[in-house]
Amino acid sequence: MKFPITRPRRLRKTQAIRDLVRETAINIDQLIYPIFVCEGEDVKNPIPSMPEIYQLSIDNAIKEAKEAYELGIKSVILFGIPNKKDDVGSQAYDENGIIANAIDSIKSAIPDLIVVADACLCEYTSHGHCGIVDKNGQILNDPTLELLKKEAYVYAKMGADIIAPSGMMDGMVKAIRESLDENNFSDVAIMSYSAKYSSSFYGPFRDAAQSAPAFGDRKTYQMDFRKAKEAIKEVLLDIEEGADIVMVKPALAYLDVIKTIKDEFPYIPLAAYNVSGEYSMVKAAANLGWIDEKAAMLEIITAIKRAGADIIITYFAKEMAKILGG
Ligand code: PBG
Repeated sequence: MKFPITRPRRLRKTQAIRDLVRETAINIDQLIYPIFVCEGEDVKNPIPSMPEIYQLSIDNAIKEAKEAYELGIKSVILFGIPNKKDDVGSQAYDENGIIANAIDSIKSAIPDLIVVADACLCEYTSHGHCGIVDKNGQILNDPTLELLKKEAYVYAKMGADIIAPSGMMDGMVKAIRESLDENNFSDVAIMSYSAKYSSSFYGPFRDAAQSAPAFGDRKTYQMDFRKAKEAIKEVLLDIEEGADIVMVKPALAYLDVIKTIKDEFPYIPLAAYNVSGEYSMVKAAANLGWIDEKAAMLEIITAIKRAGADIIITYFAKEMAKILGG
C-alpha cells in the first residue's frame, strides 16, 4: 500500500509538536469573570445549580475580585441582587443601590481591574422582565430605554469601564451612548449583548440572580434560536448605534453564530458568553464522574475561541487562569 507523502500524524507525535502547530490559544487577558453581588455583610450564599459560584456581599465580592485578579484575570462583570424589587427596577439605577455600591467598591479596591456593568432590569424588577411591563403584560420598549439611560449613567459615574446592556430592547445601544456622551462619559465603552437568544441555558443564572420572569417568557425580546442570519442584523444595528464590542450569547449551542459574526464583522471585538447552563452541565456531569471536568472545560472554551470569539465571559475563568498560569 502506498501512503501519500503528507502524513498528518507526524505533527501529532508529541505534545510539544502539537503545541507548535496549534491554531487556537486561550488568552487570559480576554476572559471575563462574572460575580453576583448581594446585600449584607460577610454573605457567601452558595448557588445550588452553580457549584463554586456564590452570591457575595460587597466585602466578599472584593475578596473574590482580588483573588481573580491575582490569578491574572483582568475583567469582571457584575450582577446585582437587591433586597427590594419593584415594577420599574428602581434599585438598578439608585446611586445608593447594591449594584452602584458594588461597582464603586470593587473599582476603588482594584483600580486596574476592568469592571463591566451588566445593564438590565430583570434582577431589579418584581416581575422579573427586562423592561417596563404594561397592564396587558406587554414589555414596553421605548419607556425602558429611558431607564437604561439612567442605569448606564449611574454605573459610569460609579466607575464602570464598560456598560453591557443585556435586555435586548431595540435601540438600547444608541440610548446608552447618548446618555454617556451627554454626561461626559464618552470614554466609557459599550459591550452590547447584541445576539442574545431566548435560551433554557440561562436557568441556573436566574437562580443565582433571582431574576426568573414571574409570568411569560423573554421570547418577545430575546432572539429565536431557530434564526442565525438575524444575528447579523442585530449586530449591524448595534455597530451603527455605537457598540464598541458585540456579543453572542449563549456560546456553546451557537458556535455557528459566533463564526458568522466574526466572518461578517472582523473589525469589531466579539465576546461570547459561556452561560450558566453550559457551566452547570459540565459541573453536574463531572460530579457524577461522567466527564473529566478540566478536559471538558478546556475543550469548550477552546471551541468558543476557535469559532471566532475574542473575549469569553465564563464562570470557569478562575479555573482557566490556574491552568494558563497568569
Ligand atoms: C440579564 C442577564 C441574563 C444573563 C446575563 N444577563 C439572564 C437572562 O437574560 O435571563 C444570563 C447569564 C447566564 O446564564 O450565565 N438579562
